[in-house]
Amino acid sequence: MDQNSILVQRHSARAFEDKAIPVDVIKDIVREAALAPSWENSQPWKAYVATGETVKRIRASHFDLASKGTKSWTEVVPPQSWSAYTQGNIDQWLVATKQSLGDATPELFEANKNLFNAPAIVYITIPKDASHYSAYDAGAFGYGLLLAAQEHGLRGIPAYEFIRHPAEVRAQIDIPEDESLMMGVALGFAKDNRLNSLRTERNDLGTILRIAD
Ligand SMILES: Cc1cc2nc3c(=O)[nH]c(=O)nc-3n(C[C@H](O)[C@H](O)[C@H](O)COP(=O)(O)O)c2cc1C
Repeated sequence: MDQNSILVQRHSARAFEDKAIPVDVIKDIVREAALAPSWENSQPWKAYVATGETVKRIRASHFDLASKGTKSWTEVVPPQSWSAYTQGNIDQWLVATKQSLGDATPELFEANKNLFNAPAIVYITIPKDASHYSAYDAGAFGYGLLLAAQEHGLRGIPAYEFIRHPAEVRAQIDIPEDESLMMGVALGFAKDNRLNSLRTERNDLGTILRIAD
């Protein structure tokens, strides 16, 4: 594996500098991500970017809702249960994260509440009632955002936290009713912070790969 590849270099960031991303850079990142492949080039994604005062208002409302423990539901069906295999991976991630962060573990949950203080959040939508393949395509677009950001010297994180209260997003951004909020991806300049040194493991090839020749 090429250790310098941006695929290897990319890791989620959970603490950002209070520094705006130039609008032209945001546009370039979205343009580059939109080169993602999609079913018959259907390009089901749309991107709504909250920055400046808008992202501050969303952050304030999110902190309030999260502090009160307000329950809400995403617009696309979230996982209701996991297979034993994927649940095992999640459990392992939680253990490794707690081991790595130690006393700083509560900071990870606080960072989620504060939406990581990201200066820009890209909300990805797909048409309402879209097929699973549009979700697949939107995932490719979202990964493209992260890789393009990496190439522009930025970091990012995709997070359920951004879209768990869809009403707070729709209150600030005019998103058509016939689109569903699929995912939020934060972009920004990474802060020198312990949360950003968090690294995750992947299952080895023996677990995920079978080659039939
Ligand atoms: C669909 C999705 C939802 C996620 N939601 C959250 C979240 O709400 N909060 C969080 O801290 N990280 C979230 N993450 C980040 C994952 O924890 C992270 O991608 C995973 O642990 C692998 O780490 P890496 O991105 O550093 O390689 C999410 C990632 C994805 C793809």
